[in-house]
Amino acid sequence: MCSSPSPSLLPSQLSLMAVLYFALSGLDLLDGLSELDKEERQHIINWIYSLQILPGNDRDEQACAGFRGGTTLASCRGESSCDTVSQLDCGHITMTYTALASLIILGDDLSRVERPAVMAHVAALQCPDGSFFSTRGGSENDMRFMYCAAAICYILQDFSAINTTSATKYILNSMSYEGAMGQGTHLEAHGGSSYCAIATLHLLGKLDSSLSRTQRERLVRWLVERQSGGGLQGRPNKPPDTCYAFWIGATLQILGALDYLDTAALRQFVLSTQDPITGGLAKYPNSNPDGLHTYLGISGLSLLRKDNLKPVDPALNISQQALSHLHQLHKNISKNSTVPC
Ligand SMILES: *[C@@H]1O[C@H](CO)[C@@H](O)[C@H](O)[C@H]1NC(C)=O
Ligand SMILES: *[C@@H]1O[C@H](CO)[C@@H](O)[C@H](O)[C@H]1NC(C)=O
Ligand SMILES: *[C@@H]1O[C@H](CO)[C@@H](O)[C@H](O)[C@H]1NC(C)=O
Ligand SMILES: *[C@@H]1O[C@H](CO)[C@@H](O)[C@H](O)[C@H]1NC(C)=O
Repeated sequence: MCSSPSPSLLPSQLSLMAVLYFALSGLDLLDGLSELDKEERQHIINWIYSLQILPGNDRDEQACAGFRGGTTLASCRGESSCDTVSQLDCGHITMTYTALASLIILGDDLSRVERPAVMAHVAALQCPDGSFFSTRGGSENDMRFMYCAAAICYILQDFSAINTTSATKYILNSMSYEGAMGQGTHLEAHGGSSYCAIATLHLLGKLDSSLSRTQRERLVRWLVERQSGGGLQGRPNKPPDTCYAFWIGATLQILGALDYLDTAALRQFVLSTQDPITGGLAKYPNSNPDGLHTYLGISGLSLLRKDNLKPVDPALNISQQALSHLHQLHKNISKNSTVPC
């Protein structure tokens, strides 16, 4: 086991950045981003960059950079007039991932991202067992944050911050007797952890080399067996829940096995959770909708290619159009770095 670098600091992380990402990526899949004019987009881009923690000169401060989830804990770090730095004001790996994803969706070129500091922050969060913490302020370490690390490194096209050998080992050790992944070794297999594990292997380019054919087949079987009452459940004997339309659907899509599901029944289930008054989607039919389930329901529906939604990239969770923009940026970045001085 790996202990938290600083267990006494447990900041209550505000997660506005993730809420923004649900809204932006959901709007994008619905082809509704044109509702935001250029000025509004720029305003949001500036807000996201205002939550980037600018590193000081200290090595330790580099490792505290990245993006915050909101302004609650923001200190005056990065301003020259400030001499005390709040130790609570550290970047969070999920907020960094959702900030970068939101910037790409808005068409930003990531040129204001402090790359070395973001990379130092990601590197400082990996445990010897291969898993990741969410923040230097102290947190759990597991598969969720490993996925965020892989997504950040993929977006910035720099994998130097991840020990991929130990990360891959952690993922394989998290495969339970059921054939799917838990958050770590000896933990119950779960749809969300399996998504994080498989999407990470895919983003690291390790999917084909690390799973044997038998492991892959057992995983697909476990995932397909999660279909219950039309929808998908996260674990055996749980009720079906909208968000697993994405977690399990996207994992199957990455594995090339989405067609094994009864997709018509799945679509029916997800649509049955839409609230007729607000339009949002809920976890279950006849319950209160929220931003997370609305976004994950929409991206789950997008995988099924039936509802005139933009196609979603299953591994990065952004539209394929936003992904094309990112790939264009990658080309420009590598062009820039090969220009002789
Ligand atoms: C990666 O982690 C493994 C332990 O799983 C360790 O043996 C190896 O030295 C690490 N590699 C680097 C480059 O740190
Ligand atoms: C996808 O969206 C879910 C819901 O926000 C998020 O938790 C997850 O980390 C995101 N990443 C991807 C690309 O799935
Ligand atoms: C990439 O570079 C080209 C040519 O310099 C430019 O027209 C284009 O806008 C750039 N794309 C992005 C996504 O920055
Ligand atoms: C590439 O270099 C140009 C000119 O130096 C700069 O304006 C642009 O932001 C750079 N692009 C990226 C993606 O770093």
